[in-house]
Order: sequence, then structure tokens, then C-alpha cells
Amino acid sequence: RVGSNRQQNRQTETTESLSAEAQHADGAWKFTNTADSDPAMRANLEWAKAIAERIPTSKLGVKTAAEAEITDHAELDKFIQKIKLGARAWAAKPAAERADILHKVGVEITRRRADLIEVAGAELGKGLDQADVEVSEAADFAHYYAQQALELEKVNGAEFSPVDVTLVTPPWNFPLAIPAGGVLAALAAGSGAILKPASVSKRCGAIIAECLWAAGVPADVFGLVNVGEKELGKELVTDKRIGRVVLTGGAETAELFRSWDPTLKLMAETSGKNSIIVTPSADLDLAVKDIVNSAFGHAGQKCSACSYAILVGSAGFSKRVRNQIVDAVKSLNIGWADDLSVQMGPLSVEPGEKLMRGLTKLEPGQRWVVEPKQLDETGRLWSPGVRAGVEVGSEYHMTEYFGPLLGIMRVDTLEEAIMAQNLTHYGLTAGLHSLDAEEINLWLNNVEAGNVYVNRGITGAIVQRQPFGGWKRSVVGEGAKAGGPNYLFGFGEFTATELKP
Ligand code: ALA
Repeated sequence: RVGSNRQQNRQTETTESLSAEAQHADGAWKFTNTADSDPAMRANLEWAKAIAERIPTSKLGVKTAAEAEITDHAELDKFIQKIKLGARAWAAKPAAERADILHKVGVEITRRRADLIEVAGAELGKGLDQADVEVSEAADFAHYYAQQALELEKVNGAEFSPVDVTLVTPPWNFPLAIPAGGVLAALAAGSGAILKPASVSKRCGAIIAECLWAAGVPADVFGLVNVGEKELGKELVTDKRIGRVVLTGGAETAELFRSWDPTLKLMAETSGKNSIIVTPSADLDLAVKDIVNSAFGHAGQKCSACSYAILVGSAGFSKRVRNQIVDAVKSLNIGWADDLSVQMGPLSVEPGEKLMRGLTKLEPGQRWVVEPKQLDETGRLWSPGVRAGVEVGSEYHMTEYFGPLLGIMRVDTLEEAIMAQNLTHYGLTAGLHSLDAEEINLWLNNVEAGNVYVNRGITGAIVQRQPFGGWKRSVVGEGAKAGGPNYLFGFGEFTATELKP
């Protein structure tokens, strides 16, 4: 059962958190992306919920989101021009001054943890534990990019010129960490930034904006805007004053942006079709826990989610692992996101045609080992689905469904498993569960994905330790991985200068 494996989860992740903190023992900040079942964090969540319950939901970010609404061409033009002009003074500041403000943003995000968790739950049904980790990640981005701003200034023999304005267009599934991360990186590099939140997560975007302004980022350096995606969205994305567009979203959206303007300077992280391989040498309890958490955390609505497990070996081994997965999935507590015991919450938006097909249809040779069911009249609360008999090259194997679905594929050898894992167009995350060093080496040398994890779940990359980005169709345009050492370089150009001694 997933529930009974929580102790193990805590131990693994706590060790990771401690090592991350140790790396920064001399610094002024620590990573805070801790385990979902850590007792201190649980207490923190109880506290967050208690505070949030006293704040009327209607007051959270609503006014800011409404004020950011732009419906008119002239107004949008004035708004972009304001940031373009304000950005010059921001770029001229010493990096240490910008870094100081960004650290304060991190502190402010942490201070507003309760509001952020509450709004993510209210707007998107995001689970309390999932939203809490996102708040921590957003704060980690602030502190990490502040540090990177100082590193950027030290680059010897070249001068870095940031673009004036970066547009950040995040998705709704990580409504806190991804908008915060994009904006903070741009600001750290010395660029001005415009945030256009996803239309269903405007209030989350608004509170992130409030944190930036409260910490001292000037209103003419960072701006929040809500525009209709069809009408003014295209105008915003293709405006020539926008030097970079940071997009996290579906591959189709990246293609749409590119079709609007093929010369767009796009830094896009897009879709994934991710899997975890399990070999007979694996620690099965750990593998099952990681597969189930990676598949069904936030109801599978993560680009990083595990969409299928590839079981290597005999039919007997496969059956054993499959039965364990089925037991674990059936033990998940499903419900709306206002209860800490909930392990899988609702979908943030009603399923579209593609996800509905995934939730209701099987291909020849497949069968449900856990059949998904719609649980209430909202259309958003579903129980998880697990299908066995996924064949290499099938529709299920090639399609990103973005929902609470897991497939099980069986192959004879690790080589076959790697071929299957690499066959999709995408290359975002990939996992291996194995305790055999040769198997691990073989896999690491051949897997085609931006984020590869051995004996760990494949979601929840931690800032600095696991810089996040894709390969193949999971990435479009330029830019290094987010949360990693070279990311800020993407927000401008280097020009060579004389080498300083
Ligand atoms: N950065 C997110 C994760 O790792 C998408 O799950």
C-alpha cells in the first residue's frame, strides 16, 4: 500500500533534503522542497489550512487579477512600453542589489504560503501537499536565481546584456512554481518581465505578482497581465519589444507560437510521455511507490508524470509487480483537495476529448486492471485508471493524456525496454528501478530524456540539484534547463570583452 510506504518515502527524501542543505551550510538560505509526509511540513500544512480558512477565498488575489485585465490594443502597447523603459534601470543595478530583492521575494513567497496553497486548491483543486511543495519550489527559485545573478556578473571575458522584456507564459498545472521561476530567472538576468498566467490560474499568478512587488521589484520592471488568449495573446507574444518568450505548456502551443512568428526567441518546455522501467533486480516496494506517486500525484496532470511502467522479465515477475501496483492504486484516498488525507485530487479542468478517450477506451489486447470511474457530477473527480497490455507503438504508448492514467507494458530485456522508452517523440523525464550497476550504466548511456532518475520517482525535480528541461519534442527553442547553472544565459547575449586578469 502506498500509505504504508510513506515512512520509507520520508526517509529517502529527508536524506536528500539534508544533503541539499549541507551544500549551502555557509549560505543564507536552504532548500525547502521537503517530503510530503515530513512531520514538520505536515504541521506547517495544518497551520496553512487554518489560516487560509480565516481568509475569505474571494479576497485572495482577486483584485490584483482583475486590475491586470487588458482588453484594448492601446492599453497593451502602453503596458509593454512601460516595462521596456523600466527594465533599463533594473539592468543597470549591480547584481547584488537585484539579488537582494530576489531573496526578499523568496521570503515573501514563504510568508504567503497559506494564501498560495488556498488559492491553488480553490482555483485548480490542487492538493494541499502538492501545492505546499510548489510554494517551496517557488521560494527556492528566488534564492537560487539570486545567487546565479551574482555568478553571471562574474563571467570573465564577456559582457552579458539582458533582453529588455521577457514574457513568461506558464501552464495551469504548476500555477505557482513555474510562473515564479520564469519571472525570477528573467529578473535575475537583468531583464524586465511580464507574466501572463494561464486563464484558469489567474489568482495564483496574481499572488505571485503581489509577492514580487511587496519584496521591492518595481512595477515598471515586472508586470502582470491578463489578456484573452485569442485576441490580444497573439499580439503580446509577437510584439517586437519582447526579447524572449518563456513557455511551459503543450507542444501544440509552442508550435502555435512559432507559427505566429518563426523568428520568435522561444524558451519552451513542453509535453512528455514518460515511463519508469523496473527490472527484476529492483527494490519492488520502492519501485511501486515511485510509479504510483509519479503517475497519480496531482491526478497525473504533470508534464513529468509517469504514464506507463515497463516491466522487464518473465510473465510471473510482471504479474507480481502489476498486482502490487493494483493494490497500491486501489488504496489511494481520492477526493477534493481540502483534506490532508487526500492522496489524489480532482482534475483541474474537465477532461477534453483526448483524455476522455484515455479514460474510457482500450485498444485491442489491453484490459483495465483498475478501471477509472467518474466519481461526481462535476466531471472533474475521477478514480485512477491502470491498463495492462500496452504494446510498443500503440496509441497509448505514443499519446500524452495528462490525467490519472497508468499503462503497464511487459518486455523481455532491458534493451527492449530502453528502445520502448526512447520510441516516443518526447524526452522529458524517464526512470529506472534497478539495483544492478551494469543495468544502471546501460540505461544511463542509452536513455533519451532531459531528466533521468534512478531509484526515485520521476516528478518533483528539486531546484539546483535536478535542473529541469527536456530533449527531443519536449523542448522547443533555446535555453538551458530551468533551475540549473546556465539558465540565466538564455535571457540575453554575451559580447566578448578583453579578458580581465
Ligand atoms: N518540474 C516539475 C517536476 O519535476 C514539472 O515534476
